[in-house]
Amino acid sequence: MDYKEYIRVIPDFPQPGISFKDITTLMKNGGMYRRAINDMKELVSDLKIDLIAGPEARGFVVGAPLAYALGVGFIPIRKSGKLPGETIEEAYGLEYGKDTLAMHKDAIEPGQNVLIADDLLATGGTIATSVNLVRQLGGNVAGAAFLIELSELNGRAKLPDVDVFTLIKY
Ligand code: PRP
Repeated sequence: MDYKEYIRVIPDFPQPGISFKDITTLMKNGGMYRRAINDMKELVSDLKIDLIAGPEARGFVVGAPLAYALGVGFIPIRKSGKLPGETIEEAYGLEYGKDTLAMHKDAIEPGQNVLIADDLLATGGTIATSVNLVRQLGGNVAGAAFLIELSELNGRAKLPDVDVFTLIKY
């Protein structure tokens, strides 16, 4: 069964011209959700991974179960103002709008191998910023894994020195 049959495409959301890939219709199917996480686990099986970092909110939906499946820890990358401890922050542009991402200063031990996981690679702004934050904390970016890649937005161009793994391509 093709994953795309489970992903609802909503035109002009959240603004005209954006074709939104809605993963809620995949996630509500327990078998397909599990299969997607297991397939992502296979994609990254050759990497050495100590931690998974995922940007909120949809990055948690992919990153946390992947961390659980791999038996490694999960660290959140959050929008500014949400994390309670000391943070580092970086602003970035999105496919629509802009925002600031933050991580706890003590989230990573220097030299730890961190896989960044998210639902979607679009323009690559979110992940390029996540990569910068992980590296600022002394982490080694083992790779970046996505459920979906929007190939025409060429997000990979923003990640020239990162190994990128994607399950479903549009
Ligand atoms: C979406 C998506 C990715 C990002 C991809 O998150 O979940 O994180 O945009 O876009 P990019 O490659 O152009 O940066 P969003 O910031 O909308 O937040 P959400 O997960 O909380 O909905």
